[in-house]
Parts: sequence; structure tokens; C-alpha cells
Amino acid sequence: MGHVPRLALMLILLSIVHPSSSSYDFEHCKNSVKQWASSSLHSDTKDGHILKDLLFFLHVPRTGGRTYFHCFLKKLYSSALECPRSYDKLRFNPHKPGCRLLVTHDDYSMMSKLPTEKTSVVTILRNPIERVFSAYEFSIEVAARFLVHPNLTSVLKMSSRIRSKNGGISTLEIWPWKYLVPWMREDLFTRRDERKRRGPHSAYGNDSYDMEEIVMPLHEYINHPVAMDIVHNGATFQVAGLTNNSNIREAHELRQCVITHEILGKYVLEVAKKRLDDMLYVGITEDHRESATMFANVVGAQVISQLMTSTVNSNNKNNNNTSEQGPSVSDSTNDTTDDQGNSSSSTVEEQSENMTVGKLMKTYETCISSLRSSQSQRRIASLKRISPANFTKEARRNVPDTLLKEIISLNSLDMELYKYAKEIFQKQHQIMKLQDSVSSVTPEKWHHMMFSNIDSAWTVVYFLGFLFLIFLICFYKSAKRRISKVKMFFSEQHVPNHRKIGPTWNPAEFLGVKSNLINLKQLDSLPYLHLI
Ligand SMILES: *[C@@H]1O[C@H](CO)[C@@H](O)[C@H](O)[C@H]1NC(C)=O
Ligand SMILES: *[C@@H]1O[C@H](CO)[C@@H](O)[C@H](O)[C@H]1NC(C)=O
Ligand SMILES: *[C@@H]1O[C@H](CO)[C@@H](O)[C@H](O)[C@H]1NC(C)=O
Ligand SMILES: *[C@@H]1O[C@H](CO)[C@@H](O)[C@H](O)[C@H]1NC(C)=O
Ligand SMILES: *[C@@H]1O[C@H](CO)[C@@H](O)[C@H](O)[C@H]1NC(C)=O
Ligand SMILES: *[C@@H]1O[C@H](CO)[C@@H](O)[C@H](O)[C@H]1NC(C)=O
Ligand SMILES: *[C@@H]1O[C@H](CO)[C@@H](O)[C@H](O)[C@H]1NC(C)=O
Ligand SMILES: *[C@@H]1O[C@H](CO)[C@@H](O)[C@H](O)[C@H]1NC(C)=O
Ligand SMILES: *[C@@H]1O[C@H](CO)[C@@H](O)[C@H](O)[C@H]1NC(C)=O
Repeated sequence: MGHVPRLALMLILLSIVHPSSSSYDFEHCKNSVKQWASSSLHSDTKDGHILKDLLFFLHVPRTGGRTYFHCFLKKLYSSALECPRSYDKLRFNPHKPGCRLLVTHDDYSMMSKLPTEKTSVVTILRNPIERVFSAYEFSIEVAARFLVHPNLTSVLKMSSRIRSKNGGISTLEIWPWKYLVPWMREDLFTRRDERKRRGPHSAYGNDSYDMEEIVMPLHEYINHPVAMDIVHNGATFQVAGLTNNSNIREAHELRQCVITHEILGKYVLEVAKKRLDDMLYVGITEDHRESATMFANVVGAQVISQLMTSTVNSNNKNNNNTSEQGPSVSDSTNDTTDDQGNSSSSTVEEQSENMTVGKLMKTYETCISSLRSSQSQRRIASLKRISPANFTKEARRNVPDTLLKEIISLNSLDMELYKYAKEIFQKQHQIMKLQDSVSSVTPEKWHHMMFSNIDSAWTVVYFLGFLFLIFLICFYKSAKRRISKVKMFFSEQHVPNHRKIGPTWNPAEFLGVKSNLINLKQLDSLPYLHLI
């Protein structure tokens, strides 16, 4: 054999043995990531701040989204309006007629299966350190429930029996738990078997996050390839649509490229930030109260008015099919599920007819406290099985700084995205407060005041007169400056003519300004705000 054919043969063999050796090289990666980013940035969504036909709750695991689902969305949407909950790709049928709500851990790539221009996206982000801790603890919490079984064989037998008997979806079928829980479960059983073999041990130390006789220590967990693939930077990858569970074919390659070449992360981050900008709502787990209030005011209010409109429409037709239900996805296999929400069986008409933002908030508060207490009971019961390890606040405080720093560096994209989300949240919050002070006189209140009570009617008249006076004073004070500003404003910004005053009215949208452009001083100088 001559040199040339031999060399060629070797090259061919090499390329067969190492088909991917070149696929993560820097140039190749840079090109594919950049190409993906530019095509993702290109598809822009308009009117991100108005609720469209379908509400897509992009539920990043361990951000507290479940309470929003059970305590807000379930109170607003009947099951008939809920798209078959994806959580499991195979079951998802986005074409279910009339479905209005999709809540899932699936990533943003799900949008490719949805009518993009008719879909509003909402999400909640959490401090990445907290999210990693929570993912670790929850994987173990769910896995520990299986320790009632004598061995893994018995677990697997039992699980398949339950699955065939029960049509419900358990945590074990939901991404990312379908990977994280079996991983931890196997690990717990191995460690338990090892303990049995060795006989009783005198002491396990007092650090629950580093108790290797009982449970995989946190430092081992976060450095494991599975966590690298699924947990770290999970929020960014989910908003970007590049998780391990993506619908995009190249997702795996792109994610590996970004993990291998950290510098490419900026492209993914750029896409994720843009998507947050376009979302109807971005909540922050840590700012829980404000996030919930804003959810009720921004999303809840629009859902209520949308459903009221559609109820009126559908009552005109003889709609026979409203009771149609998707496949049952109640989280009902005991021992393996994440939680059990009560799905109320009332129809959307009953639910939305009398609903107001105030009532929604009240319902939410009772609901969340009962949900929380049942969740914490489950957690305590399940962590008992791995005693003396117990993930308490005190134990958390003793986790060394070096470990926290490691988590931060493994989640640098998420750290940035979280910071950005907090900025968006602050702006949304300011807009909401402004809107609140401006629209505290809603049409219903107007009606009420004008017709039910003469005194109130006079109050309104005085109030308006007062406002007008203030307006005049302000106007004269800086008339010239204002006129030029207003002129500029009207020539630059097209004021939409479909503006409404009331629950769905959104100053940011009304002014035609993206939330990241809004400048409250500028808002202040707009004359009509004083009059509304
Ligand atoms: C697992 O436990 C079952 C009892 O539930 C027992 O019959 C079986 O032999 C055990 N398997 C192993 C490999 O120990
Ligand atoms: C997702 O991650 C899990 C765990 O690392 C792995 O077993 C699985 O093959 C991955 N799936 C894809 C599509 O990358
Ligand atoms: C509902 O459909 C049934 C036939 O499937 C029909 O007999 C009934 O009149 C319909 N009801 C209404 C309100 O349209
Ligand atoms: C009711 O459902 C049937 C099929 O399930 C469909 O053919 C029909 O158009 C639906 N009617 C209405 C009013 O949605
Ligand atoms: C599951 O629930 C049933 C009753 O609903 C109960 O009898 C059974 O013991 C439970 N299984 C486990 C493993 O808790
Ligand atoms: C809604 O209000 C009406 C009266 O205003 C009442 O008859 C009806 O029962 C209420 N529905 C619900 C679900 O509270
Ligand atoms: C579930 O329903 C029961 C009664 O049916 C009630 O006591 C409980 O508070 C409800 N839980 C939630 C979370 O709504
Ligand atoms: C774990 O800690 C919680 C308090 O944070 C406590 O209620 C629970 O009893 C503890 N569990 C065990 C097994 O010690
Ligand atoms: C564990 O023990 C060390 C010293 O033995 C102590 O400094 C530390 O506070 C203890 N941690 C907990 C969580 O009790």
C-alpha cells in the first residue's frame, strides 16, 4: 500500500472513530452559535405587553412557578382551556382546539410548535445559587421517597405497575426530573447498601450538604456531567430554547459548544435577554410578594377581561363542547409526585364572570398558604428517610464560600440573566405603580360613583377640577419646553387608537415604548397623564 492511500485510509478511519472531534472546535462552534443567535434574534414578537390568545408559562424548574399555576392560572382558566400540559413532549398536542394556557418545563423552542404571533410568554427567574440548591434538594427529596422499598429492583417493578395503571404524569416523567431523580435514586440506594455492608457507623458529621455516607455531597453533584448538562445555566438555556429537552435539532451541539467555549455564552445570553424583553411578564422568585401582585395586575387582569369577552362570544353560539377535557394529567401517583393541586371543576364561565384582580389576589393568598404547608409536610416526611441529613436553613449557612463561588462560576450566564431580569422587573414595577395611581378610577368605579351616590359624583367633579387646575399650572410653568417635547413625542411615537382605560390598559404599550426604553421623567412630562 502506498503512502497516499494509507494516509487517506487513516484519515477516513480517524473521521469515523472521531466524528465529533471537529464539531466542537472553536471556529465551527462560533459559526453555528452566531448563526443560531442571529436567526433567533431576527424573529421579533410585537406587542409583547398585551395578552394574546395563548398564554405560555415557561416554567423554569425550582422557581416557584407551580404556585402561580395552581393559585393564579388554575383559578382563571378552566381545565377545558388548558392545553394538555406538556411536561412530557410526547403527549403535547398544541392543536387542541380552543386551548388558551400552556404551562410546561419545556423550553422556548416549544414556540416553534405554537402560533407564535398569537402567543404571550411569561416566566419567573430565581437567584441561580438558590435554584441550584433547590434542584439538588428536590432531586434528593423525590428520590428519597423510594427508600421505602427494600431495593431498586423492587422500585422499578412498582413504578412500571403504577405507570400502566395510572394515566397520570408523575414527577418522574417530567423533564428535568426524569433524569435527576433516577440518578439520585440510584445513588441513594447504592449508599444505603454500602452502609448496610459496613455495619452501623458512629457519626456522619454534621454537614448535611457533605454527608457522603448518606447522600451525594453537593460539591460532587454540581460537578457531575448530568448537572453540567441539565442544571447549570438552566434558566438561560431554557429561555434560549437550548436545553437538553429542546425541540431544536442542533440544541445539543450548540449547548456543548457554549459549555466548551465559554466566550460563546454571550450570544446565547443576548438571545435570552431579548426574549425576556418581549415577554408579557417576568417575575422574580425572591421578590415574591411584588411578583405575585404584579402577576395579578398585569397577567391576571388581562386574562379576566379576555375570558369575559370570549364568554360573551361563546354564549351566543350553542357551544356544546366546552366540557371537553385533555388527557388527565393530574399529579396523582402517590409517592412519586411533586405535589397535588386541587383542580376545581367549575367551568370558565363561573370562574371568570365575577373574578376581579382583588378577588384573585385573595384567592391566591389562601391557596398559597395551604399549598406551602402541604409541600413542606411532604418535604419533611421525605427527608426523614435520609436522616441525619436534613436540608435546613442552618445547614445551608454552613456551606463553605468556595462552594458558593463555584456554583456562581458554573452559572455565569444565569447570573447575568437574573440581573437583567431584575432590571426588567423593577421597570415593570414602576410602570405598574404609575398605572395604579393613574387608573385607580376604573370604568366600573366611575359607573359606581356616578350613579350610586351623588356625593361621590361631586367628589369626582371636584377631583377632576383639581386635576385640571394642577394641569394648567404645570402647563404654564414649562409651556415652551413641553410643547416642543410633546411635538417630538407625537412625531416619533405612533399613539395606537385602540387604547383602553381599565384593567388591560398598559402605559408602556400605550406610549408605544418598550419597557427598557421607558423613562419615568418623560412620562411625567406628558400632559394627558394628568388628566386620566
Ligand atoms: C428486592 O426485594 C424483594 C422484596 O421486595 C426481594 O424479593 C428481592 O429478592 C430483592 N432483590 C434483590 C436483588 O435483593
Ligand atoms: C439529556 O441529559 C441526560 C442526562 O445527562 C442524558 O441521559 C440524555 O441523553 C440527554 N438528552 C439529550 C437529548 O441530550
Ligand atoms: C349538543 O349536542 C347534541 C348532539 O350531540 C344536541 O342534541 C344538543 O342539542 C346540543 N346542545 C346544544 C346546546 O347545542
Ligand atoms: C364539537 O366537537 C366536534 C368534534 O369533537 C366538532 O366537530 C364540532 O365542530 C365542535 N362544535 C363546536 C361548537 O365547537
Ligand atoms: C398510595 O396511596 C394509596 C391510597 O391512595 C395507599 O394505600 C398506598 O399505601 C400509597 N402508596 C404509597 C407507597 O404511599
Ligand atoms: C356571580 O355573581 C352573581 C350575581 O352577581 C351570582 O348570582 C353568582 O352566583 C356569582 N357567581 C360566582 C361563581 O360567584
Ligand atoms: C384541596 O381541597 C380540599 C377539600 O376538597 C381543601 O381542604 C384543601 O384546602 C384544598 N387544597 C388546595 C391546595 O386548594
Ligand atoms: C429537618 O428540619 C426541619 C426544620 O427545618 C424539622 O422540622 C424536621 O423535623 C427535621 N427532620 C429531621 C429528620 O430531623
Ligand atoms: C458542625 O460542627 C462544627 C465543629 O464541630 C461547628 O463549628 C459547626 O457549627 C457545626 N455545624 C452545624 C450545622 O451544626
